[in-house]
Amino acid sequence: MVTSESPGLLIPKAGVDLGRPDTYADGVPYEVFARLRREAPVSWVDEPPHDGFDGGPGFWAATRHADIVEVSRHPEVYSSHVGATFLRDQRPRDLAALQQMMLNLDPPDHSKLRKIVSRVFTPKMVNGMFSSIARDAHDIVAGLEPGSEIDLVAKVSAEMPLMVLADLLGVPRSDRHLLYSWTNRMVGLDDPAYGGRAAFLSAFQEMFAYAEEQAEMRRRDPGDDVWSLIVNAEVDGERLSLDELQRFFQLLMIAGNETTRNLLTGAVLTLDRHPDQWAELRANPDLLEGAIEEILRFHPPVMQFRRTAVADAELGGQRIAAGDKVVVFYVSGNRDESVFSDPDRFDIHRNPVNHLAFGSGTHFCLGNSLARLEARVLLTELFARFPRMRVAGPSLRFRSNFINGYRELPVELGPAAARTAPEE
Ligand code: HEM
Repeated sequence: MVTSESPGLLIPKAGVDLGRPDTYADGVPYEVFARLRREAPVSWVDEPPHDGFDGGPGFWAATRHADIVEVSRHPEVYSSHVGATFLRDQRPRDLAALQQMMLNLDPPDHSKLRKIVSRVFTPKMVNGMFSSIARDAHDIVAGLEPGSEIDLVAKVSAEMPLMVLADLLGVPRSDRHLLYSWTNRMVGLDDPAYGGRAAFLSAFQEMFAYAEEQAEMRRRDPGDDVWSLIVNAEVDGERLSLDELQRFFQLLMIAGNETTRNLLTGAVLTLDRHPDQWAELRANPDLLEGAIEEILRFHPPVMQFRRTAVADAELGGQRIAAGDKVVVFYVSGNRDESVFSDPDRFDIHRNPVNHLAFGSGTHFCLGNSLARLEARVLLTELFARFPRMRVAGPSLRFRSNFINGYRELPVELGPAAARTAPEE
């Protein structure tokens, strides 16, 4: 382990640039995280300039399950607001805009928004979406040509969350490709395939104008969709402001899209690498619910989120100073050997109830039951219809230090089993 001296302190250094998107070009470097958990579970990562990034002040990487939980549950020490939650420091104007988003608020401001939104994202609401999700899954799978080779990302994984979000927001399904383009451009700033900074900035303008129009429509004429509920919800007699609504729209778009898409692609990729377990799952679909939890542990779609210390603290035996950036690596916590036995083994019979794919504590993912339901319904439909599908070539990874995902995954569908009606 490399260490360096600062006044009287030995600082354990990660020795790998965990902030650089290319570090994840071939997948998550699990062996690096295993070494860090063993030798320096909270270690310092420098942020030198590269590829148009001016460099940053560096950050603490928290790699153990317990430390990730500790950070996530103490917003009074580890703030989501001060530097927002994206790993890189933002320009002041961008930071001010991001800070209005629920994800980037601390209590008590966060609590007000969370109260409104959690009234909407209830198990009842999610269960109420079952039939429309089943219809979406059926339509997607019915549109696939038996015997063909497809890009799973474009034809299946991206479509499912987009259709669900269109239903959730009560916007025409045909608008879903607008949503797709906006979120790709927002999250794809580091991936040249998505058009760089100009495309990133125009995506915000287009999406905010759309969100405003949709909000005005729902105020005039509310429907029974989630967006109508949010636009008209009141806490202590107050509705969300236009800024808050636009930011919430953006959060839903990114949080609901990029993540679920990569859960679905990651599921097929992981099962293809474990053919015996895939065969077992096909023979016994009741195992799917547990298998999805193991996929979330083994291949979490979100790799990390960032906090900023607002007080001096100690984390995993390491002194953290107020102002330091602390990054929690869910990908590492999910392989922590002190919590999961033989953590690098994929096992659909494991019951990893305490995986960190949806975070922990104050900002625990509000869409977790929706994402789980989408995955269960879509994968059931897909595996039943194409029992012999398999990955047909190398995947193309999304260039990111944040999303553990794919731009393309070629899949050979094989012959189709008899068509099924959507589940009721
Ligand atoms: C597999 C799919 C998903 C994964 C892996 C995921 C992951 C996460 C994680 C790790 C956080 C915590 C962020 C933090 O602590 O800073 C989070 C928060 C959030 N997620 Fe998800 N998410 C998924 C799907 C969804 C869906 C489908 C929606 C809604 C449509 C959604 C909405 C949200 C919201 C609103 C928050 C912010 C909660 C808050 O700030 O209190 N997510 N998600």
